[in-house]
Amino acid sequence: MKVPLLDLKKQYKSIREEIMKATREVFDSQRFILGPKVEELENKIAFYCQCRYAVGVSSGTDALLISLMTAGVGFGDLVITTPYTFFATVGSIVRVGAVPVFVDIDEDTYNIDPKKLEATIVSMDEERKSRVKVIIPVHLFGQCADMEPILDVARGNGLTIIEDAAQAIGAEYELRDGSAKRAGSMGQFGCFSFFPSKNLGAFGDAGMVTTNDEDLYERLKIMRAHGSKPKYHHSLVGGNFRLDALQAAILAVKLEHLDEWTTRRRENANHYRKAFQDEGIDGISLPIDIVKRHIYNQFVIKIREGRDSLKKYLKENGIGCEVYYPVPLHIQACFGSLGYRPEDFPLSVRAAETSLALPIYPELTGDQIDYVVEMIKNFKKNNI
Ligand SMILES: Cc1ncc(COP(=O)(O)O)c(C=O)c1O
Repeated sequence: MKVPLLDLKKQYKSIREEIMKATREVFDSQRFILGPKVEELENKIAFYCQCRYAVGVSSGTDALLISLMTAGVGFGDLVITTPYTFFATVGSIVRVGAVPVFVDIDEDTYNIDPKKLEATIVSMDEERKSRVKVIIPVHLFGQCADMEPILDVARGNGLTIIEDAAQAIGAEYELRDGSAKRAGSMGQFGCFSFFPSKNLGAFGDAGMVTTNDEDLYERLKIMRAHGSKPKYHHSLVGGNFRLDALQAAILAVKLEHLDEWTTRRRENANHYRKAFQDEGIDGISLPIDIVKRHIYNQFVIKIREGRDSLKKYLKENGIGCEVYYPVPLHIQACFGSLGYRPEDFPLSVRAAETSLALPIYPELTGDQIDYVVEMIKNFKKNNI
C-alpha cells in the first residue's frame, strides 16, 4: 500500500470544476494583482479568523516580514521566539535587522513555554529589556501556543505580539473566561501561510496578515505596496508584498471546504489514537491535543529511540513521513554569531531528534492509517 505524506491531487479532483470557474473569471477580467478577488478573500479570511481586518500578502514569510516592519521593528531591537519552528519565523526577524532571543518549548506541545518566556524577560537587565519589542509565538503543527500567559507577559512589558499562525488557520484557544479565540486573533498581528501543503493551500505562494487594529491595517496596506500612498509618494519604505488575484480566487474556493477538511483531519487523528491504543505500542507518544481546536496541519509523533531508522523503514514500505524540524534554529550555521550552544534549549534539540510527522491529510482512508500503525508496530517488534 502507498501512503503519501500529502496527496494534493486527490483534493484537487474534488474541487476541479469550482477552481476552473473561479480562475476563468480572473483570466477574463485580466486583473491579476490585488483588486476585487483579493478584497473578497481578505473579508472572508478576516471573518473566518474572527478578526476585523485581513491583508493579503505574497507568502507566509512576507506576512511575518511586513508585520515586523509595520510594528517598527528594526536594527538592534530584540524579538523573542522559539528555536523550534520553520526558518521563516527567525529569518524574518534577522532580515529587519533585529536580534532573535530564543525561549525553549514545552516538550508536549512543541510550542513556546510561557514560564520560560517570563523567566527570560525577568533575567534581562534594564537596557536589554528595553530593547525587546515583539514576541512571536508560533502555533506549531496546528495547535495554538498557550496564549493567555503569553498575552499577560506582553501586556506587562508593553510588547507587541505577532502570532505565527502559518500552520494554524482555524485553530482555537480557550481563554480563562471560557471564550474561544482563533489563531491570529489574539495578538496585534496574525500571520498565515497558504503554501500548498498548508490546510488552506494556494496553487503557489500566498499569505495573509490579520489584525483588529484599524491603524495597523492601514499601515499594512501601505507597506504591501512599497510604502506608497498616494501612488508614487512614499512616506514609508515597504516592499512588494502583494497577493495575486489568481491565488485569492483559488483560496476563496478552497476556504468553503476548509471546515470539512479540518473535521477530516481531526477524525484521522482520532483514528490514529485508537489504532495506536489497540496495537499497544510502547516508546511512542502521540500529539497532545490540549487546546480547544487542533487543526492538525501535521500529526507529529515522538519516538524515544530510533526515529531515523523508523523513518527509513516507513519510507521503504511506501509511507511518506518527515522530520519537522531536524535542526533547531539556535544551532543553524547562519545564526552562529548569536553564540548559542545546543544545550541552551535542550527540549528543542530533543524534539528535533525524536519527532516524526505521519500522513494526516483529509483524504487519507482508515485503511491507510491502519497500515501506517501496523508498519510502526512491525518496526518496533523487529528493531527495538
Ligand atoms: C511556522 C511557519 N512560519 C512561516 C512559514 C512561511 O510561510 P511561507 O512558506 O508561505 O513563506 C511557514 C510555512 O512554510 C511556517 O510553517
